[in-house]
Amino acid sequence: MTDTEVGRLWDENAPVWTRLARAGYDVDRDWINTPAFLAMLPDVAGLEGLDLGCGEGHNTRRVAARGARMTAVDISPRFAALARQAEAPEPHGIRYLAASAQALPFPAGTFDFAMATMSLMDLPQPAAALREAHRVVRPGGFLQFSILHPCFNTPYRRLVRNAEGNPRCVEVADYFASVERVDEWLFSAAPPEAKQGLRPFRVPYFHRTLSWWLNAIIEAGFTLERVEEPYADEETARRCPAVADTRVTAYFLHLRCRR
Ligand SMILES: C[S@@+](CC[C@H](N)C(=O)[O-])C[C@H]1O[C@@H](n2cnc3c(N)ncnc32)[C@H](O)[C@@H]1O
Repeated sequence: MTDTEVGRLWDENAPVWTRLARAGYDVDRDWINTPAFLAMLPDVAGLEGLDLGCGEGHNTRRVAARGARMTAVDISPRFAALARQAEAPEPHGIRYLAASAQALPFPAGTFDFAMATMSLMDLPQPAAALREAHRVVRPGGFLQFSILHPCFNTPYRRLVRNAEGNPRCVEVADYFASVERVDEWLFSAAPPEAKQGLRPFRVPYFHRTLSWWLNAIIEAGFTLERVEEPYADEETARRCPAVADTRVTAYFLHLRCRR
C-alpha cells in the first residue's frame, strides 16, 4: 500500500470516526491510552511540539492544554480540517496541516519534541516517519509514541472468553508474517443505534515484530528512554467494562525516545 492509498482510506473514515470518538466510543483512547500517554509525558510547558497522525486532534488538544505550542499533521485532509474546526469553540493555538509523517514539511530541528498516538503502526513506512521525527526534533529533544502492541496484535488474533463470557486469554499467531491488509470495523463500544446505517471503517493494517520496532528506533538515531504497556486497573474495568479485556494481556505499547 502507498502513503496515498492509506491516506485515502483514512480520509473516508474521518467524519464517522470523529463523530463516534467525540461521542465517547473510542474507549481504549479515552480510558487507557490517553491517560497513560499523558502520565508518561515529560513537562512540555513552553515547548514546541509536533503531533504525527493527529486524527481529530483530541490528544493534540490535551498536550496543548499542558502549555506546549503544538503543530499537528495528518495524512487525511478531512481529519486535519475536523481537528482545525475544534479550535473555534476551544482555542489552543494549534496549527493543523494535511501532510505525511513520512515526509514532513519542516526544517531540521524545528521542534523540542514530537508525539504520535496510535498512528505510526498505521503507516506503510514507519521507519521513514521515525527518521523524519529524528530530523525535525532538536538534539536533546524527544519522541514519545504509542502503538498497538506488536506481540499481541498479530495477523491472527482471537479473544477467548470463559464460560461466564469474560475475557480469558488472547490467541495469537503469524507473528513473523509480513502482512498488509485492510480491516473493517467500527468502535465495538458504540451501541447498535449509534452504528446503525454506518459503513465500517476501512483501516490499513501492517504487522511488524517487536524487534523490528526497536531496531527502527535505534536506526533512526534515537535512544530508548521509557516503555509502558498500559491496561485498565480494576476500578477502570469496573467503570468501563468495554476495556476489561485490556487486563488479559498487553494491547498497547508506549515508548519514549531521546534525540
Ligand atoms: C488510529 S488513528 C489515531 C488518531 C489519533 N492520533 C488518536 O490517537 O486518536 C491513525 C491516524 O494516523 C493517520 N495517518 C495514517 N498515515 C499517516 C501518515 N503517513 N502521516 C500522517 N498521518 C497518518 C490517519 O489519518 C489517522 O488519523
